[in-house]
Amino acid sequence: MKILQLRRFVSTILVLAIVFTSFVGTQRVSAAWPEPVRGRHAMVASQHELASRIGAEIMKKGGNAVDAAIAVGLALAVVYPEAGNIGGGGFMLIRKADGSSYALDYREMAPAAASRDIFVDKDGKLINGEGSSTIGYRASGVPGTLAGFDLAFKKYGSGKIRWRDLVEPARALAQNGYVLSNRLAQLLKAYKDNLGKYADSKRIFLRDGDLYKEGEIFRQPDLAATLARIQTVGASEFYNGKTAQLIAADMKANNGLITLDDLKNYKAKERKPLTGSYRGYPIITMPPPSSGGIVMLQVLNMLEGFDVRSMQYNSAARYHLVAEAMRRAFADRAEFMGDPDFANVPTASLIAKDYAKSRAASIDPKRASDSKEIGHGVVASGEPMETTHYTVVDPQGTVVTNTYTINDLYGSAVTAKGTGVLLNDEMDDFAARPGKPNMFGLIQGERNSVQPGKRPLSSMTPTIVLRKDGSLWFALGARGGPRIISAVTQSVINVIDHDMNIQAAIDAPRIHHQWFPDELMYEPFGMSPDTLAVLTSYGHKYSARPGYVASATGIMIDTEGVRLGAIDSRSDGMAVGY
Ligand code: GLY
Repeated sequence: MKILQLRRFVSTILVLAIVFTSFVGTQRVSAAWPEPVRGRHAMVASQHELASRIGAEIMKKGGNAVDAAIAVGLALAVVYPEAGNIGGGGFMLIRKADGSSYALDYREMAPAAASRDIFVDKDGKLINGEGSSTIGYRASGVPGTLAGFDLAFKKYGSGKIRWRDLVEPARALAQNGYVLSNRLAQLLKAYKDNLGKYADSKRIFLRDGDLYKEGEIFRQPDLAATLARIQTVGASEFYNGKTAQLIAADMKANNGLITLDDLKNYKAKERKPLTGSYRGYPIITMPPPSSGGIVMLQVLNMLEGFDVRSMQYNSAARYHLVAEAMRRAFADRAEFMGDPDFANVPTASLIAKDYAKSRAASIDPKRASDSKEIGHGVVASGEPMETTHYTVVDPQGTVVTNTYTINDLYGSAVTAKGTGVLLNDEMDDFAARPGKPNMFGLIQGERNSVQPGKRPLSSMTPTIVLRKDGSLWFALGARGGPRIISAVTQSVINVIDHDMNIQAAIDAPRIHHQWFPDELMYEPFGMSPDTLAVLTSYGHKYSARPGYVASATGIMIDTEGVRLGAIDSRSDGMAVGY
């Protein structure tokens, strides 16, 4: 009898242990979210299935992650025209399997004719419509995408795949077309007023008013012809060939700023990757002219002084803490950040752990600060001076994490005549009126004022996180203006502090705070009324409507080396691995 009781006791303990372990286990993998896509060798996570498949094919043919990233980027310019581009710019972060890492800056550049007050009228007010920094010919910076891809290809490509073979899938998609999704059909309709203002945009994207419907084939022959020239001549064709001439001629005819000389003078630049850590995990990210890396590291540094893990990811305490850290980091962004080739950006001081400690000292765990009273910090002086993201990991373990953009969806809405190339409105990422908000309500300072040849400050945050032994753990990035920084930062916290896998980390509801406007933004269905009530009692104010805080893609490597791909449930896309 006693033995039977003992057995029952033991089996009860076992069952309880299993239940408990599976509960803990369920929390750890966050089973409420889909599992990431698995690939034993390689993975591409991008915002369009066709682009991800193209990247995977390139790697199957012996290309590395850099080759694949270029082919994906070119394909997205065709199948994801609202953000994928050759008329914009961005940042590519590469980490090779040997541990070396590289940051490529192919951000757009202000044309030579641009000047500090170009976007304000004689009364000092922001110009609206044509002539503004957000729409039309003057809104575009000199595009950098092809120069960036060319640099990546020549320096970091495998050498096994020809340039022409990287361009071919995109060219063929533009020439032969692809089935238009409901999402793209709806988006084109939503942007018909802007696109309809410019003849080539109207013809190509709106079929001269006979709007495309879901399921129709969408062909872009002008873009196919441009890509064919770039395929044959090389990326330089965009900067000094027929494409350059077409862009410059259309600019001249429409009071735009970009000249043939601007295009000829554009250069992609290599920057030193920004490095930091969170709770001992090394982080590699993008330096200025993106603010993304600095702001993210500042927030993470401030959070290190708090027991975030015990707060749980969706508690009021944790949202409050993240919002307060972001409020402070964005105040610094406004004051200190800009193109480092033009302004003194005190990067090392801003990402120092001690500086974060002093910034975090004013955080009251139960009281929201007032942004009017939170200025920028005091840093050591004298120091030297709608976007899309995709991530690729190849069989050798090289990772590429790339964010590029034409800024607003469909950029400036201008398609340069005869090229099929949608141009960016990246000039709005400058401070058109230093100290006054831009289209994201973001305040920026003199260091980010318009100057010829300068690159506008970005929020793009392609990021790589390593395990403590230095091996690749995960890489990610996001689209969504300044909210990119919030999305990437909170995804990193979700993995490190809350043990989420990459899909759960990216999908979990998040918040955004950018100092001004002094509002905490939360997501639709993203916060319980109880949590909101607590945050309100702390004194937080909210944006008028909940809104999505960017959308991310990422890849995690598990301990067996399996590549786990994740696309944000907030947006389209597909991870493709093999
Ligand atoms: N255009 C958005 C960014 O660069 O942050």
